[in-house]
Amino acid sequence: MSVLSKPEVPSWIPARETELIQDSEYLDLEVVDISSLIADPLTTSTAARDTIDRAFRSLQETGFVILTGHGFSSEALGRQFDLGNMFLEVSEEVKHQYHAKIWEEGSWAGYKPLGFYNRKNGARDTIESHDFYPYTVVNELQPPVSWPYLDEIRSFYKVNLGDASKSSTFKPSYVCSKPTLFYCAQYCQLSREDLGFPQIEYFSFWQLHHRACEKADEIQTRDLFRAVKYHPPSEEDRLRSEQLWLPPHTDRGSITFLYSQPVAGLQVFMNHSWKYVRYYPGGIIVNLGDAMDFTTGGLLKAALHRVYEPPADQRHLPRLGLFYFATMLPDIPMQPLEPLTARARPPVEGTFDEFEGKIPTAHEWQIKRAKSTGRPADGVLFAKRFPKQDSAVYSKT
Ligand SMILES: [Fe+2]
Repeated sequence: MSVLSKPEVPSWIPARETELIQDSEYLDLEVVDISSLIADPLTTSTAARDTIDRAFRSLQETGFVILTGHGFSSEALGRQFDLGNMFLEVSEEVKHQYHAKIWEEGSWAGYKPLGFYNRKNGARDTIESHDFYPYTVVNELQPPVSWPYLDEIRSFYKVNLGDASKSSTFKPSYVCSKPTLFYCAQYCQLSREDLGFPQIEYFSFWQLHHRACEKADEIQTRDLFRAVKYHPPSEEDRLRSEQLWLPPHTDRGSITFLYSQPVAGLQVFMNHSWKYVRYYPGGIIVNLGDAMDFTTGGLLKAALHRVYEPPADQRHLPRLGLFYFATMLPDIPMQPLEPLTARARPPVEGTFDEFEGKIPTAHEWQIKRAKSTGRPADGVLFAKRFPKQDSAVYSKT
């Protein structure tokens, strides 16, 4: 079914950019145009090397980099925002029918309702989301209103996963964000000792995420595609939560791709202070998560981030976000890869206490964290890993 023959989906109109954040309140992240790498992934040109160096240096220094020239048109991204909004506009009754079993099973498939988590001083959690794993992009597991559009979501998912060959919407040559970063890793093997990164084979990075050689693995992967809506809190909850819309945290997976949108709020912790991330129209904001940190022994750091309330000219607006959370294969141990062991720093003592002294696999880490997020044990672990930060978790009052 083509887009034209489907029932119309209301457009999500992006907000006007804020004018109330000073330049000094932003962290200027490295913006990397990857179009030349997509056009010729095996290029060894000086320009390509420079692009990759800048991307990796930025990931090492801040845990973040911005990708442009990734192959998704602004129309294609806008369409995914429309569809994400459509999922979050269904009735509460329908959402309840497809709720995610986060605490029961550690699964994010489906809806995470408003008020699910406790917030500071008893404030209400005002975030709702809808998530897919690849095997859940099917009619049986989704609300009927979404059925005509699941092919588009599946296509977008496949490109992010690294398998554009089966995508009905995007050209196979548009190899997007996740594989492109692996191409970056490939170039690191050309020895960028000056970046402090030892030789790692491209294939090693790929194998952390996909079983088969050079082929994305839809069966094994637990990559998550998420639409999330932040609703402005009441004045009472705003004060209770101390203006935090999402507490500080690191992502649990390997690499997070966030499709930039104009409502400010995302902040990164750098040099002892929180800085806003700018709006990059059409850009993909990339940050690294726990799995990448553990498997590189901290050479590629999980980025500490949070969502603080937007400035006054945007504070009343809902904030719609789209994420793709890339994960490692379920059985990958959360320990440094062999070539990195000499330089690896161990995880903070106590990080794996809940695993009785064993190194967890990627899957065990994901499930344990999903089940405990928002609960006191998660706050204890966060305090160990980030002792100078306020706790990410608040108990009910
Ligand atoms: Fe996050």
